[in-house]
Amino acid sequence: MNAPALGPSTSTDTSPFAAAFSSATIAVDYEQPEADSPGAAGVCSTRHAWARVPVEPSQTERAALKDQIRHLLKEKNAVMVSHYYVHPDLQDLAEETGGLVSDSLEMARFGRDHAAQTLVVSGVKFMGETSKILSPHKTVLMPDLDATCSLDLGCPVGAFSAFCDAHPDRTVVVYANTSAAVKARADWLVTSSCALDIVRALKESGQKILWAPDRHLGGYIQRETGADMVFWNGACIVHDEFKAFELASLKKEHPRAKVLVHPESPADVVALADAVGSTSAILAAARSMDATEFIVATDNGMLHKLRTLNPGKTFYEAPTAGNSATCKSCAHCPWMAMNGLADVARVLETGANAIHVDPALIPRARQPIDRMLAFTAARKAGQPVAGLVPQIGAA
Ligand code: 13P
Ligand code: SF4
Repeated sequence: MNAPALGPSTSTDTSPFAAAFSSATIAVDYEQPEADSPGAAGVCSTRHAWARVPVEPSQTERAALKDQIRHLLKEKNAVMVSHYYVHPDLQDLAEETGGLVSDSLEMARFGRDHAAQTLVVSGVKFMGETSKILSPHKTVLMPDLDATCSLDLGCPVGAFSAFCDAHPDRTVVVYANTSAAVKARADWLVTSSCALDIVRALKESGQKILWAPDRHLGGYIQRETGADMVFWNGACIVHDEFKAFELASLKKEHPRAKVLVHPESPADVVALADAVGSTSAILAAARSMDATEFIVATDNGMLHKLRTLNPGKTFYEAPTAGNSATCKSCAHCPWMAMNGLADVARVLETGANAIHVDPALIPRARQPIDRMLAFTAARKAGQPVAGLVPQIGAA
């Protein structure tokens, strides 16, 4: 899988969507180091990630591992928090044992508010780090600490800080899929479930925005809100692969199907959507929309929950460029796929794979997360949010 172009957005994109905001983009390139290059020690490339995806356990092994995990969760006062893209076993077991399967916003909130002193976060590293920042006194374990995200990899704090320094008049809004150090440079954190609301509120209070790292989500937010934004040029290697032409063809084959799209997808794919939103929003749309067929443009780990909760409905995967031996383009995140039952049991048993965030970073990294959680809580309670959007300017 090719690494996407990364760094502050260039104006090389000639799509009509890019043209709409190209005047606000900055022509600076940042090259993500290849995982095998000398400067990239410790980076788990997609190739390495696929090689480390756990072998499927047999039915007997699976049952034994689940029993062991149920027992260990009680013994260690621990709770499982899983993302919708991880293996169905990790989703089902989380729910069955009083934990949570959800989108990244709810994962953060649940981990903060739950009484358990140990959180087992199945997902990718930024999710574990966010939990640790919100609950530094808790132990946060992850099945595989090398499970990362192309958006996080593509936004190194040094280059990102320079980008922020070049725009001191802008409020810095970063997506959750970033490192603790990048969060510590931000004014606001957002996830795809609250980004529209938060940017709209910032725009209404007259603020100009520096957005990082996902260029597709940023572009979507800009088109929806009309906010003045400059963009970092990162992308999700999974959603970036959805293809509009092929999606339109699939729609012709299934004319009654509604199209559900995660906004990390390219603009021409988003333009074909009947509903656009976070993983939780996609789930809610499938449940509430008056249709029995859906085409889904997000990681196919999502299909498990969609199918379980909607037994009478049919879900088709949106088309990507196609599969190959290493899954170049198969709508599944290789880093999410690294999470498995055996590692959950192992880390619970041994305490291995505890997330560590530099304590010096935590108070500053927590500020944008707390702001997001306060904003979303107020919205949910129907309270006014204007007072929660201070004129911060750049950090
Ligand atoms: P959600 O916040 O929608 O769960 O998305 C997280 C993610 O990594 C999507 O690729
Ligand atoms: Fe990152 Fe994309 Fe994987 Fe989500 S699906 S964790 S955005 S690489």
